[in-house]
Amino acid sequence: MNILPANNQEWLIKKIIRKGGTISFYDYMNFVLNDPNNGYYGCGRANLGSKGDFVTSPSMSNDFALLLSKQILEWLIQVKSKLICDDKLSVLEFGAGDGSLMSGLLEYFFIYNKKILKNVCFIIIEPNKGMIEKQQKKLEKYLKLGFDIVWRSLEELEDRSLNGVVLANEVLDALPVERIINLKGKMHRQGVSTDKESGRLFFEEILITKELEKSIASAHKKLGISIPPKEAPEGWTTEWHVDDKKWLKAIYAKINNGILLVIDYAKEAKRYYSLSNSNGTLISYRNQKIIKDVLESPGYCDLTSHICIESLIYDSETTGFETIGLVKQGEALLALGLAERLFKIQNELKNDISKALSRREALLRLVDPICLGDFKWFIFSKLKNKKTKINSSCIR
Ligand SMILES: C[S@@+](CC[C@H](N)C(=O)[O-])C[C@H]1O[C@@H](n2cnc3c(N)ncnc32)[C@H](O)[C@@H]1O
Repeated sequence: MNILPANNQEWLIKKIIRKGGTISFYDYMNFVLNDPNNGYYGCGRANLGSKGDFVTSPSMSNDFALLLSKQILEWLIQVKSKLICDDKLSVLEFGAGDGSLMSGLLEYFFIYNKKILKNVCFIIIEPNKGMIEKQQKKLEKYLKLGFDIVWRSLEELEDRSLNGVVLANEVLDALPVERIINLKGKMHRQGVSTDKESGRLFFEEILITKELEKSIASAHKKLGISIPPKEAPEGWTTEWHVDDKKWLKAIYAKINNGILLVIDYAKEAKRYYSLSNSNGTLISYRNQKIIKDVLESPGYCDLTSHICIESLIYDSETTGFETIGLVKQGEALLALGLAERLFKIQNELKNDISKALSRREALLRLVDPICLGDFKWFIFSKLKNKKTKINSSCIR
């Protein structure tokens, strides 16, 4: 049932009515996630971690950040050695959630390589004020220690000013998407309408824009993606990621020499845009449960969709990035020493069985192929010297 909870329907209904009674799904997703007063991330309501609405790798286990740090350090050292000047390095994180990943990275460097901390600036790009507050709280200890941690908007950074590593863990899946629906042999854009009397939200198709038609035609020409696939039934629907390319272009402009690591749920085009995947990949989460109706409890749930592997690689390469590799998270973490870490935990926590078991369980979930282990790590580079070879221990 698409019923809005009484405590938050007014703001959204007003927005929809102001926009003429129907908004695109893209606008809906943007409002319910990013509205500064009522959006799930915008107002900081998002509750990540095993006691929250859903887990991300860093919010579930600190071991994720500690393992990834090894890879980041390896990349930083290589970027530094390729630089002719003495520029300060950067580790930039997009969409830092509750700050778990950044906190784990700082902890790793603090314990294992204090020297590098003096030469690295840690930058967070987070558009949602509510989340910035959570991140500042989590990183308080490191801020007090005087580490160079700053929050910036992308526009505030100078072009070609970044030398180092850029991270985006589960950020592209939170960017608003369009939804495309096959009706009577034609593609439409999915919209969201509201019933003025009851405040009920419902899907309503709207005309597809020229821009969307162009983008779909281009995906067909360049990547052989057919939307809809042949013999798609009435109502076949998919997400269409309209912001990924813009995001890649914007970050590309800011990098001088660097590695971009995107980690996310991702599907191959042939599985994404297939007859069997007839309702896309959009999922809503609350209290560790999947909410079937993505229009339910707007602003109180996470909304997320998979990215398309070939489209992301194509968009990155046509922006100018080189692809260093694509690896499943499970394999990447094993290559970075997850098994050794598991062994160490068991030894260190011999006298605290319950703690050892919960750390073990969290580590295994990170590599479980039907859980977070199936996430994809996309590794791209932008290096002035195109012939430079970058080693990545996460790819065996
Ligand atoms: C699913 S959470 C992931 C949080 C964190 N990276 C993690 O893995 O725990 C998505 C994060 O991206 C942020 N976000 C949403 N849109 C963004 C954008 N356009 N640029 C940067 N961050 C964004 C959200 O506010 C939130 O912090």
